This record gives sequence, C-alpha cells and structure tokens, in this order.
Amino acid sequence: MKIAVVGTGYVGLVAGAGFSEFGHDVTCVDIDPTRIASLKRGEMPIHEPGLPELVHRNAKLGRLQFTTSIADAVPGAQLCVIAVGTPSAADGSAELNYVLDAAKQIGAALTGYAVIVTKSTVPVGTADKVRAAIAASTKQPFSVASNPEFLKEGDAVNDFLKPARVIIGTDDDRATGVLRDAYAGVMRTGERIQVMDIRSAELTKYAANAMLATRISFMNELARLAEQVGADIEKVRVGIGSDPRIGNKFLFAGCGFGGSCFPKDLRALLHTAREADVPLNVVDAVERANERQKHVLGERVVAHFGGKLSGKRIAIWGLAFKPETDDIRESPALTLIEQLRAAGASLVGYDPAAAANIRAQLGDAIALADEPYAATDQADALVLITEWHELRHPDLAKLGARMRGKVLFDGRNVWSPADARKAGFAYYGIGRPASQAQ
Ligand SMILES: NC(=O)c1ccc[n+]([C@@H]2O[C@H](COP(=O)([O-])OP(=O)(O)OC[C@H]3O[C@@H](n4cnc5c(N)ncnc54)[C@H](O)[C@@H]3O)[C@@H](O)[C@H]2O)c1
Repeated sequence: MKIAVVGTGYVGLVAGAGFSEFGHDVTCVDIDPTRIASLKRGEMPIHEPGLPELVHRNAKLGRLQFTTSIADAVPGAQLCVIAVGTPSAADGSAELNYVLDAAKQIGAALTGYAVIVTKSTVPVGTADKVRAAIAASTKQPFSVASNPEFLKEGDAVNDFLKPARVIIGTDDDRATGVLRDAYAGVMRTGERIQVMDIRSAELTKYAANAMLATRISFMNELARLAEQVGADIEKVRVGIGSDPRIGNKFLFAGCGFGGSCFPKDLRALLHTAREADVPLNVVDAVERANERQKHVLGERVVAHFGGKLSGKRIAIWGLAFKPETDDIRESPALTLIEQLRAAGASLVGYDPAAAANIRAQLGDAIALADEPYAATDQADALVLITEWHELRHPDLAKLGARMRGKVLFDGRNVWSPADARKAGFAYYGIGRPASQAQ
C-alpha cells in the first residue's frame, strides 16, 4: 500500500518507518527542510532507540522516502496520515492550525480515493473539521478516520511495531478495510485492532493520558503526605502496586510529569470539558497537583541552603522529560533550572541526549558537561531529575571526591538513602524520610 505521512516528528517518523517495516511504500513529509535534508542523509532529527536502524533499513530497500512536498507524497496514496503537532493554544485548547493546514494540502493533492487519518492527538469533533477542510480543496472521493497514537517516547519503535492496541475511529467500512490492511503487520489475527466511532476514538486518547497522569499526581500528593507523617512512599508504592486491581505501572512519585503530551493533553481535555459544560474535577486536580509537584524539589534545594544560592554551584543530572529521549518539552528540569537560577545558583547539567535541545532553548543559562561526573566538579549539591540508566547507580566515592558539598536530591527515588548516608551524603528523595550524613 502507498502511504503518505504528514509531519515527521516523534510520532510521524516512527509511524512512517513502522509502516514501511510492515512492507508498505511510505513517503514522510515535513515542512521543515532541515529535518528532511538530514533524514535524506540518514541522520535522525530526534533521539529514539531503534529508530535509526529501522529508518536506514527501509530507506535502503526503497520503501521509505522523505520530502518537503505534500503534492509529491499524496498522489496515489491510499492512506494519508496526519501526524503534525497540536500544541496548547493560550486558552489551553489544542491548536488545530497545523492539522487543518495539512488536511487542506492533502485534499488539494488527492488524485483518487484515499483515507485521511488523524494520528495527531485532537479534541473530539476534529474529524468533522478535517473532513470540511479536505472537502473544500478536492472533488475526489475520500474518507476521514481517527487513529490516535499511544506510543511512548523512548520505546516508540517497540510500541508502534507491537502495540497493546490500535484504535481506529471510523464510520465507514471502506476506511476500516484500508486501515486494517495498513496495520496487517501488527498482528496476524488482528485482535489488537479496535474499531469504534470517530468521537469515541478521539476521546479515548485523552482519557488514556488523563488516567495515566492521574496515577502520577495521586502518588505525588500521597508522597507529600508521606513526608509529613513519617511514611515512605516507595514502600506504599510496592504495597499497593502488588494488588492486581491496581497494578504497578505509573505509580512512581517524582518531580512531576512533563513532556509533549500529558500537560497539553490535560489542558485540551479540560478545555473540551469547559466547552461542553461538564466539569472534570479529577482531571483539573491532577493538573494542579502536577504544577505544584514540579516546584517541590527546587524548593527543597533552596530551603536546604537557607534560601540563599548565590555562590552555590548545583549539578543537575537528567534534563529530558524522561529517559531515552532528547525531548525537553515541559520537562520538570526547566522548572528546576528557573527556580535555582532565580535563587542565584550557578548550574551545570548533564544529559545523555538532550543537551543540544537545552542549549538551543536556554542558551548559557546552564553550563553543560559531556559526562555526568564532570558536571559535579566543585558542586555544592547534585539533583537528579531524569533517571537515565547510567545515572541510577552513582559512584558515591567519586562524587564525594569531586563535589564541594555533600548533598543529594533524588527527584526520582532511584538512589539508596542508606548508601548515600554511609558515604557521608545528606539525602533528600520524594516522599521518603530525608536523611543526614552519618
Ligand atoms: N510525542 C509523543 O510521544 C506523542 C505520542 C502520541 C501522540 N502524540 C501526538 O502526535 C502529534 C505529533 O506529536 P510529535 O511529538 O510527533 O510532534 P513534533 O513536534 O515532534 O512533530 C510534528 C512535525 O510536524 C511538522 N509539520 C507541521 N505542520 C506541517 C505540515 N503542514 N506539513 C508537514 N509537516 C508539518 C513539524 O515541522 C514537525 O516536524 C501531536 O498531536 C501529539 O500530541 C505525540
């Protein structure tokens, strides 16, 4: 099948490469010429494990191509996938300009029947707007469908090739057939494909993200309570996570969730709810709890130093919003950097993949080191924000020799408070009793 994927970011590039891996003939389009030029050279514009191999193999086989022109990619395609961004508008709603522009351009390039499917996360009712935008620019027959994406950055290739489920929202059998063919590579039996009406599919994506975010904010609030009452949230997590009705995923207390999806999708869902005049009190609280949580660690650092950070050098490990990605959109690290700088600290950061994005966004607001321990030289404290594997088991003797102060702030509860104490460090986690050096 010939497929055009419009938008070649975290979702579009993975989906395009994934569809080509299933044997389809895929053209990925992006309006960013630098991105397309680098992909044509075989260079990845994003960090995503397993993606370079997938792209290189399929490009070499001639099944995966890149262009800046929708007019080149769409003619002859049976499936056109919209995978452009839907950032937050000022009022919290999802900005649909990119989606509707793409729809219009796809419509203008159609040469025969095609299914146009929205993979971008879009509010309920967007399919109607997409249909209208296409209809205004073509006389060709077409179907519109929704196919929300559930991949997670850092494991996106696996998630796309072996998804827990593929949701197809459509009211049209012909479109269902095309989408089933497109995903035939996912599972021979096809039992992971769920077909539903378009509005339910659109809402399912927001419901999934809101549910996951709810678990995180719930644990973060409980972590704050645990600290006050002398309990350890890590023990509580294991205690409740072993209940099969609850499950052990997404129960980690930390320094708040960020990324390109949860925060903006919660805002968009709340906006939809306001417009429908249906209060979503739980989701509203989840968002507020997260905003609060993103400040907790920074406040703790400032309090530890008695409110004064001028002359203090703070090392930060992990800047991406989560491990295994270079994505820093709404990363809790950005909140921490702002807080510590406002308090007068000088900052040195380390991240295995996100340094270039931090440099592009923050300039010299934070110095960046090439390896983790270099960031800690003469540091008065070390803060962990993103639990990359390489940062989970620090060499405490090495840290002790390089750092000026002996304080660890563990924003992900991955370090051992007992080991830290033994090595002479004061340790602060999230929802765990703070411990002073022995
Ligand atoms: N990133 C994730 O983990 C994830 C997961 C599931 C769903 N989503 C959703 O998928 C969508 C895309 O997210 P992303 O993270 O891939 O975004 P992104 O910002 O990484 O990529 C979007 C790309 O679309 C391009 N673009 C914009 N307008 C275009 C046009 N008219 N023609 C061609 N290209 C155009 C941009 O240049 C950019 O490269 C969003 O709605 C997001 O909410 C993202």
